[in-house]
Amino acid sequence: MNPAQEFLNTSLLLSILVFRFCISLDTISPNQPVKDGDILVSKGKTFALGFFSPGNSGRRYVGIWYNKVPEQTVVWVANRDSPLNDTSGVLSINGHGNLVLNGQNGSTPIWSTNASVSSTNDSMAQLLDSGNLVLVLPDSQRFTWQSFDYPTNTLLPLMKFGLDRRTGFSRYLTSWKSEDDPGTGNYSYEIDPIGYPQLFINNGGSPWWRGGPWTGQRWSGVPEMNHNFIFNVNQDEVTIVYSVTDPRVFTRMVLNELGIIDRSTWHEARWFVFWFAPKESCDMYKECGTNSYCDPYNPDKFQCTCFLGFEPNSTRDWYMGDGSGGCVRRQGVSACRSGEGFVKLARVKVPDTSIARVDMNLSLEECKQECLRNCSCTAYTSADETRGGIGCLSWHGDLVDTRVYSNAGQELYIRVDAVVLAQYSKKKGLLKSKKMLAVLVVSVAVMLLLLVSTGYWLVMKNKRGK
Ligand SMILES: *[C@@H]1O[C@H](CO)[C@@H](O)[C@H](O)[C@H]1NC(C)=O
Ligand SMILES: *[C@@H]1O[C@H](CO)[C@@H](O)[C@H](O)[C@H]1NC(C)=O
Ligand SMILES: *[C@@H]1O[C@H](CO)[C@@H](O)[C@H](O)[C@H]1NC(C)=O
Ligand SMILES: *[C@@H]1O[C@H](CO)[C@@H](O)[C@H](O)[C@H]1NC(C)=O
Ligand SMILES: *[C@@H]1O[C@H](CO)[C@@H](O)[C@H](O)[C@H]1NC(C)=O
Ligand SMILES: *[C@@H]1O[C@H](CO)[C@@H](O)[C@H](O)[C@H]1NC(C)=O
Ligand SMILES: *[C@@H]1O[C@H](CO)[C@@H](O)[C@H](O)[C@H]1NC(C)=O
Ligand SMILES: *[C@@H]1O[C@H](CO)[C@@H](O)[C@H](O)[C@H]1NC(C)=O
Repeated sequence: MNPAQEFLNTSLLLSILVFRFCISLDTISPNQPVKDGDILVSKGKTFALGFFSPGNSGRRYVGIWYNKVPEQTVVWVANRDSPLNDTSGVLSINGHGNLVLNGQNGSTPIWSTNASVSSTNDSMAQLLDSGNLVLVLPDSQRFTWQSFDYPTNTLLPLMKFGLDRRTGFSRYLTSWKSEDDPGTGNYSYEIDPIGYPQLFINNGGSPWWRGGPWTGQRWSGVPEMNHNFIFNVNQDEVTIVYSVTDPRVFTRMVLNELGIIDRSTWHEARWFVFWFAPKESCDMYKECGTNSYCDPYNPDKFQCTCFLGFEPNSTRDWYMGDGSGGCVRRQGVSACRSGEGFVKLARVKVPDTSIARVDMNLSLEECKQECLRNCSCTAYTSADETRGGIGCLSWHGDLVDTRVYSNAGQELYIRVDAVVLAQYSKKKGLLKSKKMLAVLVVSVAVMLLLLVSTGYWLVMKNKRGK
């Protein structure tokens, strides 16, 4: 081989390599699959896609992880429920423009996207810097499929979470089975549209933790929630999107194998958890039975308390510290057209709104009147806390899964009979008169002090004058 030819060959090889490198960096095209061992990196080098084995597992999964975080942190898994047992996996675009994962047995895919693509020949998959893997038609730049629509256990910024009411399509998180198995676990984190929509963690389909309804500023059961998100609730959708304040800070929300949802940021070489739920027993769904509330702040006291006007359903169980039987309205009284009214419980997570009714056109006062008129109405509050309260949320039946917080939360107005109302008003009046008495005593004392000191000053002045 002469040097010129050698040079030509080398440069040809180089250019092929460079060319391949350039176009394969963040995309999968029909003639450019991803084999086990290959890694796709997004343009800004934030995320990587490839094959991995979680924890102590030897099985192979296609996943997306942070490219710059040294401790491999997987944010999405394609074939979570159908792992490969070897390194024969190939992720490619098939003849129908879908992304498919094949193992040794080539013909039947282990996993595939199910986009309906019409112009089948030029579909391309691209890993975006947001962590979203998208299937695009290059001519139209239209996404025919995106991994953000099928989250696993992680919610990333800019990912839409919640329900499309027009199609019924829901984007929700499901836990891994274990640290070694990303398969679909028992816990899900989702928005339930029944009644007045609420956030839930379900365990095997049953409520486990209730984030509650959206209050206009936050979830009712997350009083400490901060503000960097966009919530959309209208006829078309009930969704939330966490925004990014600083794209250099990696932040994520994860539903773990134990049913705990947390938010964390990558900070000083570790994931720093700044929020999680559930935190304590009062957070667990129905920790206290119906018509009672959970109060974790007095360690000497049983944490369940019947609402005013209610008494334990089973007195014996209740005083043994078992609140699950809940409370019933006091015997022999009526709270229907017999002088009843409402008492306020402050700083609460409102009861389960799956049986609540909402009317955004009513003010709080109109809400009260409406509730008072209807004997089946057991409690009410504002539907939206913003601007001093908008709309009317009312419950008709038992009040389920309520708790109080130490320094934040909504106000709940509970229907009580005339006797309880009178006692409550008297107590409130007494409290008021006690307060007034205290103010009176203090002002008299201050006046006396002033008089005495003025007198003293006058006497001294007279003495000095003499
Ligand atoms: C991997 O092995 C398990 C158990 O041996 C088997 O059930 C599964 O079908 C295998 N998966 C593949 C893709 O061959
Ligand atoms: C491959 O396919 C054959 C026939 O369909 C089946 O018997 C065999 O178990 C498969 N092997 C794996 C590893 O899935
Ligand atoms: C494919 O579509 C079905 C139903 O439309 C959905 O349940 C499934 O999660 C989708 N799978 C993927 C990988 O997109
Ligand atoms: C590829 O797509 C173009 C336009 O979408 C179409 O005209 C052409 O027939 C397609 N080719 C094949 C092989 O499907
Ligand atoms: C999920 O729940 C079922 C039934 O309670 C249980 O048998 C199984 O072990 C649970 N799975 C995990 C991963 O915890
Ligand atoms: C009260 O207890 C009875 C018997 O245990 C039960 O059937 C009923 O549902 C309870 N009522 C409430 C409001 O929980
Ligand atoms: C609420 O008000 C809007 C506009 O003022 C009106 O279109 C709508 O019908 C009202 N809804 C109810 C339930 O009264
Ligand atoms: C009271 O409220 C219930 C439940 O929303 C409703 O079905 C019923 O019609 C109302 N009754 C009256 C008299 O408005």
